Amino acid sequence: MIAIRGAITVDDNTREEILSSARILLSEIIKSNRLEIRRIVSVIFSATNDLNRAYPAEAARELGITEAGLMCLGEMYVEGSLPKCLRVMVLAETGNERRGARHIYMKEAARLRPEYAKFFAVAVDGPAGVGKGTLAKKLAEALGFIYVDTGAMYRAVGYFCLKENISLTDSKLVENALAGMSLSVENRNSIQRVLLNGVDVTDELRAPEVSDASSKVAAIPAVREKLLITQRKTAEGNNIVMEGRDIGTRVLPDADIKIYLDADIDERARRRLKDMADMGVRANFAEIRRNLEDRDRRDTLREHSPLKRADDAVLIDSTHMSTLQVIEAALGIIYDKTGGLYGIRDS
Ligand code: DC
Repeated sequence: MIAIRGAITVDDNTREEILSSARILLSEIIKSNRLEIRRIVSVIFSATNDLNRAYPAEAARELGITEAGLMCLGEMYVEGSLPKCLRVMVLAETGNERRGARHIYMKEAARLRPEYAKFFAVAVDGPAGVGKGTLAKKLAEALGFIYVDTGAMYRAVGYFCLKENISLTDSKLVENALAGMSLSVENRNSIQRVLLNGVDVTDELRAPEVSDASSKVAAIPAVREKLLITQRKTAEGNNIVMEGRDIGTRVLPDADIKIYLDADIDERARRRLKDMADMGVRANFAEIRRNLEDRDRRDTLREHSPLKRADDAVLIDSTHMSTLQVIEAALGIIYDKTGGLYGIRDS
């Protein structure tokens, strides 16, 4: 038997908000602790005295917890304590399995027990030129999450090799060069800056030769292992939207929300051509398309964590969609996956 604690703050003292917060909290506890509903013995809620429009136990019954003992109590008032807070204690059988409880503290209640704070990760994967960056940045802005562009990290490695004249196809040389490369990212208002050996190189990373170099170094296992550590560390202790090629499959396999963004290659080439025209750069459609094809081939065929849709990723095929439609679709997916805690209900 284990006892699991949790807490969440409720935005407004309304029946809907109380029930939806209770549902979100309980669902997360059940998911994180791999609980079987029939093995839940009891659920005890407490609410601060500014929440009085519904009994949260109703939400437990809606989730199918009908056999367990349910109870709702008033939390004792302590001066200066967190307002509109719903607390819960779940007792559950785990059979012969011995495992520790994963306590869950959400929203403002995360401040009560930072070590048990629940953070959400949105993984956005897809091929080059599909608009992952635009989508991930907009989502991060809309959700108030940190935006992480992992492609920029591979670009920084490619940029370093170009600058130091290191052969991009000699994996041993590139691997040796990694030791002299310190990479970190900073996030300023949903804008990611990449620091290479302490110097901000962000503005140098979008050049076509860097794009090409990045997809070559991305095939080298030692590069991927080094960046994997940086990427996971960046995700720790933050709500994040992380974009790349292997986020849902390898970097964050337990991400709460996984989106695989795709589009036909001709459409991707058309978009790239338009972006370049908007920046006043003349380009050739056939050449852009060929370049995308090369990068697709390298990204999908490499041995080490190739670009692939994770089994549990939701596909958005944006070939015939506007940017706004893609963002709305993604916010709908996030709404569904977080039980309404984040995102917007898809209309
Ligand atoms: O998304 P982007 O074009 O900035 O990515 C640059 C290159 O880095 C791309 O060719 C593939 C590689 N990449 C990767 O292999 N894995 C990631 N998670 C992100 C990017």
